[in-house]
Amino acid sequence: MDEKHRGRLTKKGIRIYEPADFEGMHRAGKLAAEILDAVAPMVRIGQTTGALDDAIRGMVEDAGAKSATIGYKGYQHASCISVNHVVCHGIPGAKIPKGKNEKTVRRHDELTEGDIVNIDVTVIVDGWFGDSSRMYKAGTIKPFAERLIDITHEALFKGIEAVRPGNTFGDIGHAIQNFVEGSRMGVVRDFCGHGLGRVFHAPPNVLHYGRPGTGAVLEEGMFFTIEPMVNLGRPETKVLKDNWTAVTHDKSLSAQFEHSVGVTASGYELFTLSPTGKFHPTWG
Ligand code: MF3
Ligand code: CO
Ligand code: CO
Repeated sequence: MDEKHRGRLTKKGIRIYEPADFEGMHRAGKLAAEILDAVAPMVRIGQTTGALDDAIRGMVEDAGAKSATIGYKGYQHASCISVNHVVCHGIPGAKIPKGKNEKTVRRHDELTEGDIVNIDVTVIVDGWFGDSSRMYKAGTIKPFAERLIDITHEALFKGIEAVRPGNTFGDIGHAIQNFVEGSRMGVVRDFCGHGLGRVFHAPPNVLHYGRPGTGAVLEEGMFFTIEPMVNLGRPETKVLKDNWTAVTHDKSLSAQFEHSVGVTASGYELFTLSPTGKFHPTWG
């Protein structure tokens, strides 16, 4: 069955999947999570983002799956790797943009001591999309970077805890924004989560800010991502000349975590749970 005939659409164009479809999403999400688990020991000082992406591409192929990002709007990599003040869509193998406190311009894609790194992988397994990202660190990072990672991780779960039938997408956004801004950090408005399932990006836009009770009402069978990006400074971003790399406007550090979730009768299921419990960089 293709996307058009699977489940049904709400009035707002959000697809409601069938109970049997959760199984396909779990398989896709599990592969994304396994790959993010397997790269963890490779993220260290001196490693290149190009080599990390090569490894990820190999793991997708070995699993007999497909990368959703290779060929997506001309993107050519199996992952996005976003270092320090890169908010999202960092290009593996490309020179890492110079950060606020760096004296020398980087000429390479090599990780150095203190880098915080987001790796975002989306795979397609039997037509189902699994999309997840998490944070890693190279060597020892600064206490403020640790705190940024902790707050971002907790922000994702504040959003996830608002997932249940009858709540709205505004409830999810509000839970995230309220927590992040209460922690005196900036939540990015320029990028959002998205519906997914048999397609990569589908309605709705899952905003990481908002007002309680606003937006579409969550229904059992909706599949979407929650993927808050949190900046230590201001929330504004800009996209570099490569047309992909998004950085913080004030060059402050940025972090992101992403899960693919499904709405159940009583709440939610996470499709991209780490099988080895390594979702947060200090776990596992
Ligand atoms: N995985 C990203 C997301 O969370 C999208 C990456 S699209 C790419 O939606 F082309 F930049 F890879
Ligand atoms: Co996503
Ligand atoms: Co993603």
